[in-house]
Order: sequence, then structure tokens, then C-alpha cells
Amino acid sequence: MIPTLVSSRNLADQVSDAYGIFLEEGFSFSGELQTFSARYYPELQKLMAAREFQGKAGQDLIVPIFVEGKAAYFVCAGLGKKNTAGTISVENYRRAVGRMLKSVAAHNAESVACVLPDAALLGISDEALAHETVLIFGMAQYHFNDFITAKKSKVVNALTFCASTHDVAALERGIQTGTVVCHAVNKARHWIDMPPAFMHPPALADKAVEIGKKYTDLKVTILGDKEAASLGMGGLLGVSRGSEHECRLVVMEYKAADKSAPTVALVGKGITFDSGGLSIKPANSMETMKDDMSGAAAVITTMEALAQLHPHVNVIGVAALAENMPGGKATRPGDILKFYNGKTAEVKNTDAEGRLVLADALSYTVDKYNPDVIIDIATLTGACAYALGPFFTGMMSQDDALVAKIQKAADVSGDYVWRLPMTNDYQKAVKSTVADICNIGSKQYNAGAVTAAFFLKEFVGETPWVHLDIAGTAFDVPDISYYRPGATGVGVRLFVELIMGWK
Ligand code: BES
Ligand code: MN
Ligand code: ZN
Repeated sequence: MIPTLVSSRNLADQVSDAYGIFLEEGFSFSGELQTFSARYYPELQKLMAAREFQGKAGQDLIVPIFVEGKAAYFVCAGLGKKNTAGTISVENYRRAVGRMLKSVAAHNAESVACVLPDAALLGISDEALAHETVLIFGMAQYHFNDFITAKKSKVVNALTFCASTHDVAALERGIQTGTVVCHAVNKARHWIDMPPAFMHPPALADKAVEIGKKYTDLKVTILGDKEAASLGMGGLLGVSRGSEHECRLVVMEYKAADKSAPTVALVGKGITFDSGGLSIKPANSMETMKDDMSGAAAVITTMEALAQLHPHVNVIGVAALAENMPGGKATRPGDILKFYNGKTAEVKNTDAEGRLVLADALSYTVDKYNPDVIIDIATLTGACAYALGPFFTGMMSQDDALVAKIQKAADVSGDYVWRLPMTNDYQKAVKSTVADICNIGSKQYNAGAVTAAFFLKEFVGETPWVHLDIAGTAFDVPDISYYRPGATGVGVRLFVELIMGWK
């Protein structure tokens, strides 16, 4: 990860392998840009014209330069146009930061010095500016290469911010929180990207235990097969039955200093590999199914971030971990499972397993902790991925107030959500003739993402609840400069923003 330093000096005074500046469309050739150019590349303005660099969104200019006799690069990253509010969108800035890191990394630079843009240009505070910059530099830098045996290329290990008009104390706060969130996001990505043979339920539960040992503010409890059986968690056990690995229910508790603070519960789907079970998936759909624990990974690493950021609300993080495999002992289509809250479900398709493990996790969390709100996050349905694609997480709820809170945190954090309808019309889709409910929605209703949400609704009682379907956003998101092929760590930025800003 990148150690960071704030400097109030000019870019031209830094000693670095690469030098960066962010420029809006139609920028004026002045200030730091002019000073730097005068010293190291007098023809820069001409070069920009010749290369048609105007600061458009997505535009970059990489210029080889010599600084004190040493070869270096000067990188200009375009921010695009101001929107109707008169600011550059933060997302444009994130993508420019991501491109800047990718550009300098591609040129084997180990250190970068960059000029922080004016926070007002983005319509945010200096603290938020530093938070975003550190976080996105770090996210862009993430590369899952644990199993690549070729010699590792150089990594950027020093980042210097040149800040002039900024409030340095605010920048330092943002750097600190941005670093914490970046670690959490990248840790979630690493767990998700790990081969599923390594990241089975007991292994992932051990990661949560390790985190618990590091922070006195976190209490971590793990339930295994035996406890799940005695608690009547037929969903978790039913899904896990075909696997060689035991299931786990991870419970992480963060207590705020103020004991009367509200309690937010986060519940993550943690299928460490989803083969579909006996309703086995076709080969191409199974390829990425190590990502089916992305919700659980987001919840666990969010808890680690919160233990360092000390929010003023109590937070319960729950992860339902199982591996969905076929086998002689596996649950069959036609079987009926009974969950923690006593309800039963007919399993018509063993590939609709996420809702089965979440049924136990949600009803257990509601019963045990009586939270003020409960939010689940799950790679739940291909239907959601088809409906919304890779840029928006599906959000389903009947609670408009909680939806508004999450919408706001999503817009600020960059983990974007889009609401899908959850009117009671869809309720009937999950009825069964042989059990309380059925684990797949009946054909006429289509809307697989929404009918899955109605299945989950049976397990939250009256608790205000939001369901987040990250099937489309958790893995292999294209075109975003600060991601790579593989896991995105979606949910962590959203949850930290939501909980740190809770009122
Ligand atoms: N884990 C999958 C959903 C998924 C699909 C996640 C694509 C990420 C990318 C889930 O367990 C699943 O298999 N859902 C089925 C439900 C169906 C059988 C009702 C699906 O979406 O096909
Ligand atoms: Mn499945
Ligand atoms: Zn699944």
C-alpha cells in the first residue's frame, strides 16, 4: 500500500519518478502547470496542442521528461467538463486518479507526486478530497498476482500530494480514513479473487477471527455445523450438505461508546463457491462463482474498517458462509428446509442457494440483536446483473426512509445503487404448495431479483430492511480505471459512508 505525504511545496520541487496534474476541460495554462513546464518542459503547451490534449474526461497525456538529470514522466489527466452544478463530478476525478496510477505503473514508476485539485472544483471538502484520492490511488493499484510466478514488476510505493490552498489538517484526516477504507476494499477483493479451494467457509471465518484479535472494539463469534444444527439453521446446513467443508456463521459486533446508540446490522451472502449444487450450472456460468462470497467479504472488511474509524452507532456484521456443491449428500430439488425462524421452504432449484443461507442469517440477526435496521448484501441473482449491468447495485426495500439514506451514501461513496420495485404484487411469486415458500419465483412473475427479495422478506419480520443485490457489480466490472478484471470490493465504500454518516 501507498504511504502518503502532504507537502505544501510546488510540484516542480519534488523528487519523484512521475509527476501528475489533473486538468479540467478548457483549463488555463497557468499556476503549477506553468511553473512545472517552465522548469522541465518549455514546449509543454505546444505539445498539448499538437496532441490535442484539452482535459476531456478520459483524456491523458504522458510526457517523458528529465528532472535533475533523471528520466521521469509528467502525466496530465483530464477531468472533463463542469456539470450544471458548476463542479466536476467526483466520479470523473476518481477515474482520472485511477488512470493516473495505471499510467505511471505501466511506466514502472515507483513514486508519484501530484498536485491536488481545488476541492471546490469537485464540490467537496478538503478532507473528502484527500480521502478519495488516497482510496482511489490504492484501489487502482490493487493487483491479484499471488499465483503469477513471473518476476513482479515495480509497484508505486510513494505518493506525494502537493497542496497549496488546502487545509492540511483536513487533508491528513482524509488521508487517514481513505487509507483505512482502501485497505478494507482491497482486502475484500483479495479474498474474493483467491481460488475457492483456499477460501472455503472455515478459511474465511478464520480471517474474521484474525481481525477480531486485532481490535478490542470488535467481538467475533463463529458458529459451525454443530451450533447451526442446534439452532435449527436448516438453510445454511442444507446448502452446505454437498460440500466437504463445514458451514460457518460469522458474527462480528462493534459497540459504540454511547450504549443507547442505534444498531445497524449488515448481513452478507458468503457462498465460497457456487457450483449450483445438483441443479448444476453450465460451465461458463460457473467460471466466476468464487465471487459468490463477495457480500460476506464486504461485511467482514467493513467491520475491520469501522473498528478503526469508531462510528457512533452499534454495528453487527454477519456473514453466512457455505459452499454449494453437488454430491451424494447434497440437498435435492424437492427437498424442504426449515430455517431458524421456523419457516419452511421448498427447494425447487439448488442453485437458488443464497436466499437459503441468508434466511437463517437474517432471522438469527433480527432475533438475537433486534437491530434498528438490517441491510443484506448478496451476489444473489443473475436477473439483477442482467437488469442493471455492472455499474449499479440493485437495491430493494419497502422502507423509503432507509432507501433514502442508502441512496445518499451510495452517491457520495461511488458504490452506486439503483432501486428496483418491491410492491406486494410480487409476493405471490414465492408461494409453494408443499411448504411456506418456494426458493424460486414462479414463471409468470419474471423479475428474478425482486422475487428473491420477497423470499428474504420472510426472514426480517418488521425490522426496516434493505436488500442489495451485487451480482452484477462484484466482479469483472469493465471500463472503470480504478478496477481490474476480478473483484471490485463493492459495498465496503458504501457501508463505511453510510455508517460513519449515520444520524
Ligand atoms: N450466485 C448466483 C447469482 C449470480 C449470477 C451471481 C451471476 C453473480 C453472477 C445465485 O446463487 C444463482 O445461482 N441464482 C440463480 C437463481 C435462480 C436459480 C432462481 C440465477 O440467478 O440464475
Ligand atoms: Mn446459485
Ligand atoms: Zn449463488
